[in-house]
Amino acid sequence: MVVEIVEAAADIRVARARMRGEVGVVPTMGALHEGHLALVRRAREENAHVIPTIFVNPTQFNDPKDLLNYPRDTERDLELLRGAGVDVVFMPTPEVMYPPNFQTYVTVENVTQGLEGAHRPGHFRGVATVVAKLFNLTQPHRAYFGQKDAQQVAVIKRMVADLNIPLDVVVCPTLREADGLAMSSRNRKLTPEQRQAAPVLYRALIAAQLAFDGGERDPEVLRQVMRAVLVSEPLAEVDYVSVADADILDELREPIMAAALVSLAAKLGSIRLIDNLILG
Ligand code: PAF
Repeated sequence: MVVEIVEAAADIRVARARMRGEVGVVPTMGALHEGHLALVRRAREENAHVIPTIFVNPTQFNDPKDLLNYPRDTERDLELLRGAGVDVVFMPTPEVMYPPNFQTYVTVENVTQGLEGAHRPGHFRGVATVVAKLFNLTQPHRAYFGQKDAQQVAVIKRMVADLNIPLDVVVCPTLREADGLAMSSRNRKLTPEQRQAAPVLYRALIAAQLAFDGGERDPEVLRQVMRAVLVSEPLAEVDYVSVADADILDELREPIMAAALVSLAAKLGSIRLIDNLILG
C-alpha cells in the first residue's frame, strides 16, 4: 500500500475533504513504537479513515538541546504506518505549522500548573497550540492519545471541552516492555546500562500500588514509597513523585478518597522519563 505524505496545510485539507465517513487522528512526534501503533490500530477499528501526524513540535520543548536530540526516524515511521494500513500521513514542516508572524497560542490554565508543567515551563502551551492546529487541519471525529502522558491527556480534554472542539478524545492504555518500562520514543536514546535501570520507574509505581492495595491512603506515605524505590537506583535522578487528584491533577494533601493519579519523572543521564498509574 502507498502512503500519501502530506506536508502543506492546504493539501491536508484536500486529503481530508476526500474522506468519507468518520476520521480518527493520531498526533505523534514520530520515532514510532508499538504504543503509537496500538493507537493507530484502535483508530482504524473505530473510524473509516485514520490520519497519523508526525511533527516534532518546537514550541513544546523548553530545552533546545532536548529538541535537537529528540529521536527522528521518518523512513522507519512511514514503513510502520504503511504496515498498519494507513493511507495518508500529515507530516508538516515547522514553517507550515509556524509561518512567519505566527503569534497565537492556546493556554490551558490550572491543569498545566503542576507535574510536567512545573518542570517544563511553556511545554503545555506548545502542546495545546499544536494539537488545536492539528485538530483544525484534520477535522477528526476522534483523537487518540496514550495514558502514559496523563497530564497531556488532561490538558487536551480540558481544551476540547473549553473550546467546544467537536471531537472525542480517546485515551488508550500505556504499553509496556516485558520488564515494565513504559514504551516511549525516548527509550531508544538510553545506553544499555540506563535501559537496564529504567524499569525502576515502573517498580516505584507498583510499590505505591501495593501499598495502596494494602490499605495505605496517605498520599505523603505513597510519595515516600515511590521516592525510596527511585533513589535505590544510582543511575536515576528523581525529578518529582506525585499523588494527585486524577481529574484536576491537584496534589493531594488529605487521605485518598477518589481516583488518584500517581506519577513520577526521573532522569537517566540526559534522558528524562515519565510514567504513571491510576489508583482506586
Ligand atoms: O505526545 C506527543 O507526541 C506530543 O506531545 C503531541 C501530542 C503529538 C503534540 O506534539
